[in-house]
Amino acid sequence: MFYIFLAIGMILLLSLAYAAASGAPWVPTKKADLERIHNLLKLKNGEKFVELGCGNGRVCRHVATKNPGVDVKGVELSLLQYLVAVGQAVATRSRARYRFGNVFSHKLGEYDAIYMFLMPETYEKIEPKLKAELRPGTRVLSYVWPIPGWEPETVSKKEGQLDLYLYKI
Ligand SMILES: C[S@@+](CC[C@H](N)C(=O)[O-])C[C@H]1O[C@@H](n2cnc3c(N)ncnc32)[C@H](O)[C@@H]1O
Repeated sequence: MFYIFLAIGMILLLSLAYAAASGAPWVPTKKADLERIHNLLKLKNGEKFVELGCGNGRVCRHVATKNPGVDVKGVELSLLQYLVAVGQAVATRSRARYRFGNVFSHKLGEYDAIYMFLMPETYEKIEPKLKAELRPGTRVLSYVWPIPGWEPETVSKKEGQLDLYLYKI
């Protein structure tokens, strides 16, 4: 039994480390910024939202609660974070849904709005994919760092809080 738990623990830790190396380590969006994110996204009924690298699903749950008519999905590569996100969604009866997978292989063409909090170098790597797959009118909201080479429509700054960059394709 001990070895089964050890193996599960190792798999969870390895997947956490792999996700951190692939796009960003797990650091959650601050709770104090959730309402600002909701206000900037301005989601409408029937729209589709995705969070790239959703961690424990905090942002997805908030977006799902605030926008009952919006399809809310999170993509996460760390098995540990993915399981926490699914568990929290069940526990809080959230409508948010999660996919275990790599954002670099997740098709983005169906979404109306995207949120991401990854590393600056990951923004550089994912930028061509965003440009190639997103439809005109799609909003992209990035936390803390801007997307290199893109002109934000809005930069949201608040004293003591982290910056948010809103782009429209
Ligand atoms: C800085 S954290 C942000 C978590 C969450 N978005 C939030 O704001 O609370 C980045 C998250 O992205 C995940 N991640 C990193 N690279 C990824 C990839 N290539 N595909 C999917 N998820 C990834 C990490 O496991 C981590 O949970």
